[in-house]
Formats: sequence, structure tokens, C-alpha cells
Amino acid sequence: MSLIRVAVLTVSDTASANHAADKSGPAIRAVLDSHEGFVCKTHSIVADDFDAIRSTVSKWCAGGEVDWIVTTGGTGFGIRDQTPEAITPLIERHAPGLVHLMLSSSLQHTPLAALSRPVAGTIQQTLVVTLPGSVKAVKENLQALLAGGVVNHAVELIR
Ligand code: MTE
Repeated sequence: MSLIRVAVLTVSDTASANHAADKSGPAIRAVLDSHEGFVCKTHSIVADDFDAIRSTVSKWCAGGEVDWIVTTGGTGFGIRDQTPEAITPLIERHAPGLVHLMLSSSLQHTPLAALSRPVAGTIQQTLVVTLPGSVKAVKENLQALLAGGVVNHAVELIR
């Protein structure tokens, strides 16, 4: 199978004002760089802003150049957290199984995982998943998604 092309979107008011503050985006890239079969094609940082999240994800999906969009941040209960609200209307086919996988595996690490509201699904031929904003959460969620080739198989099926 050819390389899975990944786009990383960091959603954070803090990181959008100061890119050096973005720790979870680089953490995603590091995990995927060390994982055979994945290539990070692009990485953007946007504020916790509905339109910015939505337009970035829409543009990537319409371009057809990425197989998997991984967002980090803005999934919680904070007043500015709106990643799930921005992405849900774009999803054509929801993937509750991936959400279940992320939450159930995360709950093995911390009960605070219950405070994340992840969404996952496909938009055209792109898989989208929303991860929480901490480096720890990113690593734990990616471990679950990559184990057993779950994402590999999902991408195989949609492209
Ligand atoms: N999931 C895992 N696997 N590990 C974690 O440490 N932290 C939680 C949760 N999910 C966590 C996790 C916490 S503390 C919060 S507030 C929510 O993700 C939402 O994070 P976000 O608003 O940065 O997206």
C-alpha cells in the first residue's frame, strides 16, 4: 500500500498566536514519522475558531491530497472548544467505532478522557479524527488508532 498522506491541524488560541507553543502538533508528526507507512504532508495551526477550523479541513478534503486529517485540541468543555462542532457538519460518514476506540482506550489511562468529545468520519476520500490537545493525550490516542492497523485499513477502504 502506498504511503498514507497525513495533514495535521493544531487548534489552539495560544499556539495560533505563538507557533512555538504548539507541542501536540509536533508530537503527532513525531509519532507518525517513526511509524512506517505514514507521511506528514502539511501542518497548520488555527485558533479555536469555527470558520478557521472548518475552512482548513474543507480545503484539505477538496484538494484530495491527504488521506488522513488529524486535529489536536478544542475537543473539551472549555468555552472556546468547538472543534467537534466545526467538523461534525462536514462529515459524510460518521465513524462511531473510531470514537469508541479513542475513548475506551483513553479511559484506561485517565478518567479525564471523558471530558473529550471526539468525532471521526470520512469526508470525500479523507478520514478525519479529532484528538485532544495535550501531548500525552495525542500519544495515547494515536497508539490506539495505529494498533492493529486500524487507520491503515480504514484508509485502504476509502481510497
Ligand atoms: N485522553 C487521553 N488519552 N489522555 C489524556 O490525558 N486528557 C483529557 C481528555 N482526553 C486526556 C484525554 C482532558 S484533561 C481534557 S480537558 C480533554 O481531553 C479535552 O482536551 P482538549 O480540550 O485539549 O481537546
